[in-house]
Amino acid sequence: MKRNILITGGAGFIGSHVVRLFVTKYPEYRIINLDKLTYAGNLANLKDIEHAPNYTFVKADICDFETILSLMRQYEVDGIIHLAAESHVDRSIRDPFTFARTNVMGTLSLLEAARRCWESRPERFEGKLFYHISTDEVYGALELTRPEGIKPPFSTTASSAEHHLAYGEEFFLETTKYNPHSPYSASKASSDHFVRAYHDTYGMPTLVTNCSNNYGPYQFPEKLIPLFINNIRHRRPLPVYGKGENVRDWLYVEDHARAIDLIFHRGKVAETYNIGGFNEWKNIDLIKVVIRTVDRLLGRHEGEDMKLITFVTDRAGHDLRYAIDSSKLQRELGWEPSLQFEEGIEKTVRWYLDNQAWMDNITSGDYEKYYDEMYKNR
Ligand code: NAD
Ligand code: TYD
Repeated sequence: MKRNILITGGAGFIGSHVVRLFVTKYPEYRIINLDKLTYAGNLANLKDIEHAPNYTFVKADICDFETILSLMRQYEVDGIIHLAAESHVDRSIRDPFTFARTNVMGTLSLLEAARRCWESRPERFEGKLFYHISTDEVYGALELTRPEGIKPPFSTTASSAEHHLAYGEEFFLETTKYNPHSPYSASKASSDHFVRAYHDTYGMPTLVTNCSNNYGPYQFPEKLIPLFINNIRHRRPLPVYGKGENVRDWLYVEDHARAIDLIFHRGKVAETYNIGGFNEWKNIDLIKVVIRTVDRLLGRHEGEDMKLITFVTDRAGHDLRYAIDSSKLQRELGWEPSLQFEEGIEKTVRWYLDNQAWMDNITSGDYEKYYDEMYKNR
């Protein structure tokens, strides 16, 4: 039974949902949230649980091997859920070194600290788990062979009855060959390989999951959905890369956190599980749903902010389509997404509009400068 769980990157978007779920669901566990608090880390994401007796926050860098090793010994960590990473593709294009440092070297430092710590105990790897959270972007890009989309032959509760389309015949499977294109996905692919190497070489119990695009509360507003919600609210332009034809598969963040909980407790060591929503959207269609929802909730005429859509220079190496097949997880562990997409978007938009102070805190100061620099030439 794993009881002392180190969660890295717990002050970020997905990490904060995972920390909250574990702290509230497992009062008998000690949850140690280790986060460097980069621009993306925000302790305000965890305000509601910060005083929970089974929760400890530690500010540290995963690249700092000695500190990690001594923390692992101090807290007798027996389970690790590793989410800390640099996570934004556009930033990786501008600053690939930071991505290699954190995502590759940081993961390696964590793996090596876990190995040294666990190997020095009498029970060695017994009852231990290193669970690495990764992305579907490591698989590369799929073709868009059905530009209008088709009704796929599978059913799920996640996607809306009207939408529920697939834009090609191919999906990412756990066996799909890695073929990353961006510095972000290349660094995540490298970290995935290191995790598997630690299992194959040292016998460390590891697990990797690769998930599609997440959305929901507490996402940093450099990512499409929160950025656009905030821009619509302020009637700022909505920078759509290229023609908005790229396809992403969207999953509500709490469904991802539930999958992580399930896999952490019941997943098979050394396995890979894909996590996705069977919920493909072309960016431009998704953006229109977001605009209509924000307009409606703000009491504006629904659709009046469509005029904010601004087509800008495409992202370099922009992957055309991601679509994940998560049927292994559904089949073997019984997980499925719980939210209809409309419901998820509605909840998400409502949350950002209701938590304007959270957004304003982030979008003032340095981020404002970053935003201007990022978009002034587009
Ligand atoms: P995020 O950028 O919101 O949060 C990352 C967190 O990691 C932040 O709290 C940051 O402070 C922390 N961090 C960064 N560098 C660190 C370091 N050197 N040491 C310690 N902490 C550090 O990211 P997210 O969107 O929540 O993604 C979390 C994980 O899930 C990442 O590994 C990402 O690759 C993966 N993932 C994300 C998505 C998605 O749609 N967001 C999808 C699939 C997988
Ligand atoms: P993003 O949220 O950055 O996630 P990822 O690149 O990891 O998929 O972007 C989602 C999609 O939206 C992606 O195809 C790029 C596109 N996009 C825009 O068109 N405009 C934007 O301002 C942003 C941030 C993204």
